[in-house]
Amino acid sequence: MAVITGTGSYAPSRVMTNDEFAAYLDTSDIWIRERTGIRERRIAAPEEATSDLAVSAAGKALDAAGLSASEIDGILLATATPDLLFPSTACLVQARLGADNAFAFDLNAVCSGFVYAMSVAKSMIESKAARRLLVIGSEVMSRTLDWSDRGTCILFGDGAGAVVVEASTTAVRGLETFRLRADGRYWEMIHVPAGGSRRSGTEVAPYIRMKGGETFKMAVRSLQESVMEVLSASGISPGEIDLLVPHQANIRIIDALASRLGLPSDKVVVNIEHYGNTSAASVPVALDEAVRAGRVKEGSRILLTAFGAGVTWGSGLLTWEAETQKRSRA
Ligand code: COA
Repeated sequence: MAVITGTGSYAPSRVMTNDEFAAYLDTSDIWIRERTGIRERRIAAPEEATSDLAVSAAGKALDAAGLSASEIDGILLATATPDLLFPSTACLVQARLGADNAFAFDLNAVCSGFVYAMSVAKSMIESKAARRLLVIGSEVMSRTLDWSDRGTCILFGDGAGAVVVEASTTAVRGLETFRLRADGRYWEMIHVPAGGSRRSGTEVAPYIRMKGGETFKMAVRSLQESVMEVLSASGISPGEIDLLVPHQANIRIIDALASRLGLPSDKVVVNIEHYGNTSAASVPVALDEAVRAGRVKEGSRILLTAFGAGVTWGSGLLTWEAETQKRSRA
């Protein structure tokens, strides 16, 4: 059985408000708040890269779990904005943390990356390939933005979230059911057209392009289907979820999903107003904030769900049993 035993997150100190966009673009604070739920986002400092954010978040998750970096067997880092094309950002994080006994690799499912990585972590622990893993979502989305495109630049922000996942013999449920999906026919819906092997960055700008309206509709439909698939595979109803931790892309997507599931707002974690869409970091940052705010209790049943470029989507049900696992370690 795999369980989460610690969470952590990090946000760059620079806060960028909606008014800063309104100062040079044809947009307004009110439009952005009403259409997206975003008030402000964090922007990495020029010298900060994805691995820097990841190291800070991972350090806090290790502290919360009561483990040192050398006790970790592997690092799974979900990102679409790596420091370099290669080596992986996970390897840079491994060195910085001093996680001398850990393998390390990146995983790219864009905004669904953390949910994908958690599913891989569950499988690796259940197959005994690893006993203790760091799962991180970290992004510097601000480097992929066309700051003159009001349809995209107002949406994204930078951040990192991390969890420690451990093998447990005392947990009852732990990471329960994960379901992942992808449909690459829709790759153009949200993409960065350059920077990889198809086109170099000199021919075409390596900035996000997105069909916002189509993405919105597909996200609502896919998230609902994915959540229902996980719930039915787990044999529970939406009413039995204690906390929904959705990807933070647009408050209207989250509200539509919550209303379709019949979930009251106190069961839904929302922090989009302060961070915007931080891609793979959004679910672990929201989870960490919920844990630190005391919204997660031992035995809480938590549903993670995300949708992103690819397109990819997925959901995972878990039971919070961190204290049970830590007691059994002592
Ligand atoms: N300020 C003011 N007007 C804006 C704007 C902005 N920042 N961005 C777009 N608009 C305009 C559009 O140009 C359009 O104008 P037009 O009618 O003259 O062409 C109008 O607002 C309506 O555009 P539309 O795309 O229908 O708006 P919307 O209500 O769908 O909101 C998004 C746009 C991008 C906020 C919304 O589609 C969205 O959030 N989509 C999902 C994005 C997402 O989740 N992406 C990541 C997935 S992981």
